[in-house]
Amino acid sequence: MSFFAVSDQTLADLAARAPGPFFAYSRSAARERWDRLAAVLPPRVRLAYAVKANPNPGLLATFARKGAAFDCASGGELDRAARALAKARPLAGTRTTAAGRGGPGPGNLLFYGGPGKRAEEIRRALRLGARIHAESVEDLALVDRFSRKPAAVNLRVHPASGIEEGSRIIGGTGPSAFGVDEENLARVLHVAKRFTRVRIEGIHVFAASNERDADKLARTYDTVLGLSRKAAEAFGLDLRQIDLGGGLGLAYSPGEEELDVEALGRSLGSLLERHDWFRGELVLEPGRWLAGPCGVYAARVVRVKESRGVRFVILEGGINHLLRPLLTGQPFPVRAFRADGSSIEEEAGPAVLTGPLCTSLDRLGDVLLPGLDSGDFVAFGRTGAYGFTEAMSRFLCHPLPREYWIP
Ligand SMILES: Cc1ncc(COP(=O)(O)O)c(C=O)c1O
Repeated sequence: MSFFAVSDQTLADLAARAPGPFFAYSRSAARERWDRLAAVLPPRVRLAYAVKANPNPGLLATFARKGAAFDCASGGELDRAARALAKARPLAGTRTTAAGRGGPGPGNLLFYGGPGKRAEEIRRALRLGARIHAESVEDLALVDRFSRKPAAVNLRVHPASGIEEGSRIIGGTGPSAFGVDEENLARVLHVAKRFTRVRIEGIHVFAASNERDADKLARTYDTVLGLSRKAAEAFGLDLRQIDLGGGLGLAYSPGEEELDVEALGRSLGSLLERHDWFRGELVLEPGRWLAGPCGVYAARVVRVKESRGVRFVILEGGINHLLRPLLTGQPFPVRAFRADGSSIEEEAGPAVLTGPLCTSLDRLGDVLLPGLDSGDFVAFGRTGAYGFTEAMSRFLCHPLPREYWIP
């Protein structure tokens, strides 16, 4: 798949509709991503889209129609996902994975996790029938308080070992705000015995971020299954679900290899065979892998200037629309086109891409681009995940970018 799900001509046509930068999302790309991943997963793996990657209702609707479950991290995400599920009618003939075969209501298809869940959010999640990923005794106590009937809960565990250092966003085995430290499991489960409505029937571990090495993901999953077995045996848990989190990686530059999802699917199959003590379902919660390639962000060049031998290309939008380059130091893939959609034939040279904000933090990357003039456009590929809603959109009161869908 190309880095750019939307053609320059389509972007130019959208740009002509109204001023200002925008995101364009491709519905066919979203469907293709879902189908490709769903097709390689064993039947006992449920796919839950991580809404945080991009909560755009059009994207949620597309995945909901495919039979997606949704991993939510706030009351707002839960509401959006519940709305998408309520409207969706899984299309006849699509492979829905275990998620689509679910049970009676959207409850089977909603998960709610996060380190700082507020009481009202837990109450709301339970009303919607969501399964809670509890990260503390306090979460368990709130489930017990608000649930009217026995509630199956997944306990998020922060492993003590066996997890390779991941990105600084998530991963590793150091101190963490997420989950219950593995070494504290006995204490938490002991306290949990007093919660009569809480049924700990699942383990959740999320220990990877943007990982493109299928073997490394498989080793992490093996650690998680081993840890789950130990917990099940030591504490008599009847585990029906093990949630392996998200973190399926994407290439952001031509030099990077894509994650081999076929190999990942095979590894999950053999993992389930090897861990035959576990008869329940696995859950994967990818956000980036599903949503990233569906989106392109486009911004007009406002000014090009040289400063002490460096070419600065100043765009209409910067970290107020795309924060990821600042967080990770890695630019999105870029290309440029003229306002009429035609390509720019000039030779590419180094450019520093900046936005309109009055801070030197407002940099979208040191990249290679052809000669550019005011009025030309730069398109950023793979911005369907961790784009629009992750950015500092209110900073300096610039308008929000628009969001368009194309078929
Ligand atoms: C609990 C949880 N699940 C899933 C995800 C999605 O991760 P990704 O978009 O890397 O697949 C995240 C991201 O931070 C997360 O925190």
